[in-house]
Amino acid sequence: MPPFASRFATLPEYPLARIPQKKRELIERGVDVIDLGAGDADLDPPRAAVERMATAIREPTLGRYGFGMGYVPYREAVSAWMQRRFGVRFDPMTEIVPLIGSKEGISHLALAYMEAGAVGIIPEPGYNSYQGGTLLGGGEPYRYALRPRTNFLVELDEIPADVLRRTRILYLNYPNNPTAAVAPVEYLERVVRVCRERDILLVYDNAYSELAFDGYVPPSIFEIEGAREVAIEFHSLSKTYNMTGWRCGWAVSRPEVASTLAKVKSFVDTGQFMAIQAAGVAALNSWSEFVPGNVAVFKERRDAAVAAFRRAGFECDVPCATMYLWIRLPDGVPSALFADRLLEEEGVVVMAGSSFGRGGEGFFRISFITSPQRIAEAAQRAGRLLTSMAAVEATR
Ligand SMILES: Cc1ncc(COP(=O)(O)O)c(C=O)c1O
Repeated sequence: MPPFASRFATLPEYPLARIPQKKRELIERGVDVIDLGAGDADLDPPRAAVERMATAIREPTLGRYGFGMGYVPYREAVSAWMQRRFGVRFDPMTEIVPLIGSKEGISHLALAYMEAGAVGIIPEPGYNSYQGGTLLGGGEPYRYALRPRTNFLVELDEIPADVLRRTRILYLNYPNNPTAAVAPVEYLERVVRVCRERDILLVYDNAYSELAFDGYVPPSIFEIEGAREVAIEFHSLSKTYNMTGWRCGWAVSRPEVASTLAKVKSFVDTGQFMAIQAAGVAALNSWSEFVPGNVAVFKERRDAAVAAFRRAGFECDVPCATMYLWIRLPDGVPSALFADRLLEEEGVVVMAGSSFGRGGEGFFRISFITSPQRIAEAAQRAGRLLTSMAAVEATR
């Protein structure tokens, strides 16, 4: 076989790649596995989406190539959703890009901007498509460690001037996976100002915009003055509507950036199955009947998770958004070792902080993807492991 391209060789292992196989082995051995790994809830999508899919699948025109244009009512529904939800208006035809899940759009966009010497600022821990796009585009990732010290915000004035000068893309994701941090409006204003001054494209990943609790309402980056000049925002039906496997999302930005992403995609895919986009319209239009009730289910799980993990001896903040708890480990307990042992010895899947990059060390992440009772059981098992690890440490 020929050698790999050097950009491919720079890719680390994908954090979730090994888990399904490992989980299968454990289940075959009779272990009662509790999976709190991927952000993929065991909840139903909106009934309206399922019903629309059932009819759309019988419409032959929806089974033809969608190309970049896709199903026009989907573009219109996205535009109306952005207007209703954030009060911002985007043209359905020139400012919205239908995506086969937001991940592909986030990764593919980088191919238009990255090359040797160009920098993508990657928050770490962070969602892996940021570095995927930057590395596959042949660019240089600048990894910024998200730590409690800055409330898990990327502080641009801490980044060396030489790096900022070469930066083409800044990736931000608030509400944040995996830390569950949120970004104050003043912070976003500062970031937009710097991106405008330095001509940096702000890729704002808003996958968790609807999963918020206790009255917190996450903003769109486009609610910030001047953001249209510099930002592209990514959205997804995956978390908001429990539609992870349907692969349906969108990007929104001014036409120059939207058409850039659309051009890359025109060489990579030929559009999504339009029946899914038709179901997506039904999902988007079901916001008021579906989302508040769904969020209430996640809130119950969040409350159960916080209480149970604290009871089991762990330290964590109460997240006001996302489906994650970012849980601190005692000093000296490596997160990968903890996660491996938790799976092997207790049958619980969690994500090691370090699997999201070195900046995530010292933490692990759980997802609220199962019932409060199962989450509580997982916390108890995790506490048992923590106690046994601490006991060994004490005898050293
Ligand atoms: C921060 C973040 N962005 C984007 C995505 C991708 O979502 P999808 O490709 O399913 O739309 C995820 C999924 O876990 C995520 O956590």
